[in-house]
Amino acid sequence: MTLPAERRAPVGGVVPADNSGVRDRLVQRIRDRTARIGIVGLGYVGLPTAVAYAEAGFTVVGVDTDANRCAAVTRGDSYIEDVIAADLRRAREKDRLTAVTSLATAGDLDVIDICVHTPLGETREPDISAIRAAAEALVPGQRPGQLVVLTSTSYPGTTEEVLRPILERSGLVIGRDVFVAFAPERIDPGNTRFTLRTTPKIVGGVDPTSTEIACLALATIVDTVVPVSDATTAEMVKVLENTFRMVNIGFANEVAMICRRLGVDVWEVIESAATKPYGFMPFYPGPGVGGHCIPVDPSYLQWKMRNLEYRTRFIDLGDDVNRGMPDYVVQRATDVLNDAGKSLRGSRILLIGVAYKPNIGDVRESPALHVAAKLRSKGAEVRYVDPHVDSLVLHHGGRLSRADLSPTELGASDLVVITTQHDDIDWGMVRQHAALVLDTRGVRGGRGRAGWHTL
Ligand SMILES: NC(=O)c1ccc[n+]([C@@H]2O[C@H](COP(=O)([O-])OP(=O)(O)OC[C@H]3O[C@@H](n4cnc5c(N)ncnc54)[C@H](O)[C@@H]3O)[C@@H](O)[C@H]2O)c1
Repeated sequence: MTLPAERRAPVGGVVPADNSGVRDRLVQRIRDRTARIGIVGLGYVGLPTAVAYAEAGFTVVGVDTDANRCAAVTRGDSYIEDVIAADLRRAREKDRLTAVTSLATAGDLDVIDICVHTPLGETREPDISAIRAAAEALVPGQRPGQLVVLTSTSYPGTTEEVLRPILERSGLVIGRDVFVAFAPERIDPGNTRFTLRTTPKIVGGVDPTSTEIACLALATIVDTVVPVSDATTAEMVKVLENTFRMVNIGFANEVAMICRRLGVDVWEVIESAATKPYGFMPFYPGPGVGGHCIPVDPSYLQWKMRNLEYRTRFIDLGDDVNRGMPDYVVQRATDVLNDAGKSLRGSRILLIGVAYKPNIGDVRESPALHVAAKLRSKGAEVRYVDPHVDSLVLHHGGRLSRADLSPTELGASDLVVITTQHDDIDWGMVRQHAALVLDTRGVRGGRGRAGWHTL
């Protein structure tokens, strides 16, 4: 059970003696909602966060280097599926949310939340250049009484080793003049049960006052804040959560291969094991892992630990298995076609669902892209059906033809490969009209039918 932010004492560290005036004024501005909030990066995380602060009664300035995104916010048009256009429009109408392309024109800010992207570089090393750029842009406008929150996921140590030194260039003292914390986002796109407000928020400041003030600010937009000892602990919590998921999905993928050799249905095995009310948590196999977080965040931890001369064996193994899944899917597709007297080369293949997870349109790192590219490279003619994805460009270029789901399209395909299980696909039509299916997601009602094959 966690207590509301204001009732919990921050943990660890030493409070500088003479910060009470600066602290008190900022606390008061947060309490009476006169604090001006700046959200740097208006993407999947930043836009909902900006709208949430506006709904909580603050004046919010969104800052994004992408002028198109700023223009959309100004028009009240939502480009992020989870942000309801009406909420965004309400924030605009009340004049609580504006968007600008540079911090230099954002005006004076009390709370700054950095929500920029943190991808992997070409050699899979962390690319935190957007965090650095955002922090550097903050320096000219820094003044006593500001809170800077880093929300972007990064490796443990980023707040202390990267953000703090940049902010210290202003000559202000962190923990006395300026407060700094790491508070990772747990948004799960498409999840309507757990929202930004109802998902507890981890908060770790670089000192106790920073933790306290960050908890206070975040408690205005989330129901539960969970303070932890420091920023590095909060960073480790975030990468643990996503690494836990990645490693367990890797294990589920290996279990799928084990079950194939044993001739048993992997989904029946996992679903049956999940009836155990304790000590088992189900994870399911698939064509690999996708999205901005699960394939990326563990690599941040891997990189950090490599620098500390520690080999992350579980992460390495999970990553290895997951990254091998598109090849495994292509091998299964080849075998399924072969058993039907056909070759992969020259076959017409329909991929169903190319987003990285159900019911959203995000294709970042989607394993379906790898599956499509590999099928194509072996001479298959590939199209896709996905009601959430209007067009699709593969990693090494080349557009994939989009098709509408229809009995004719299904009937004309030599093989249907299910890569994502969206709810709004007419699975009954797929069952009825597809002669040969390779289902990598365990669609209910399909498994066990003639011509329906699984991983
Ligand atoms: N997408 C998710 O579901 C999710 C969930 C939890 C955590 N995260 C983490 O949150 C962070 C943000 O992810 P996202 O999915 O919102 O990214 P995103 O790519 O959707 O949005 C990032 C935005 O930042 C802008 N930007 C880049 N550099 C900038 C700068 N210097 N100044 C101002 N704006 C800048 C980009 O134009 C873009 O609009 C990442 O670290 C990610 O790992 C994402």
